[in-house]
Amino acid sequence: MKKRKLDPKYNFFAAPHPTVVAGTFVNNKPTYTTLGDFGILCAYPLHVYIASVHTHYLNIGIKENMTFSVNIPNPDNLVKTDYVGIVSGHKTDKSKVFDFFVGDLKTAPMIDEFPITMECEVHDIKRVGRNDVFMAKVKNIYADKECLENGDINMDKVNPITLFMDLTYRTIGKTVGISYQVGKNFKPSQ
Ligand SMILES: Cc1cc2nc3c(=O)[nH]c(=O)nc-3n(C[C@H](O)[C@H](O)[C@H](O)COP(=O)(O)O)c2cc1C
Repeated sequence: MKKRKLDPKYNFFAAPHPTVVAGTFVNNKPTYTTLGDFGILCAYPLHVYIASVHTHYLNIGIKENMTFSVNIPNPDNLVKTDYVGIVSGHKTDKSKVFDFFVGDLKTAPMIDEFPITMECEVHDIKRVGRNDVFMAKVKNIYADKECLENGDINMDKVNPITLFMDLTYRTIGKTVGISYQVGKNFKPSQ
């Protein structure tokens, strides 16, 4: 075996994470928190989760409203994205960091300057370790017009940021293949 067995430590998790900013309202003011722990629970219909340490200020608003926004930054938004992941709403008012709008759910502040934002309605909250895991249905996705091509989102134009456990932010890089196609004609050896 050419592998070495390692402890299941966070910094050995060598897969890219997205970097997103989650938003909610606390005491009628928007507040935002950076999260790497975001993903899809179900593709059709689209359900997502975010995992946020139970003491985070963000969680207060999500539990109260049972909604949140997920905002996808690009490299132009990096400094503010990092900032709302460094300071806590418990001590610092983050309500003026971004211009925002609300959609159908009314209580999920969506960031204007990010290319993509989505409003989500919570249906389950599960505690896993120190995290509250918020599971939610995505009600609407809003995309900058410049990111759209023939009605679809062009990922190169969105240029989302990933997060690695070596603490680097990285962009997504080049296309290396098309899924459900490159493996189609592979024949395993008998
Ligand atoms: C890049 C990055 C990723 C982060 N990912 C998470 C995460 O997935 N879950 C989490 O609970 N905190 C995460 N944090 C930490 C929170 O964003 C940070 O503790 C924040 O200050 C909490 O703010 P709040 O108390 O206003 O909610 C991350 C921070 C950064 C900078």
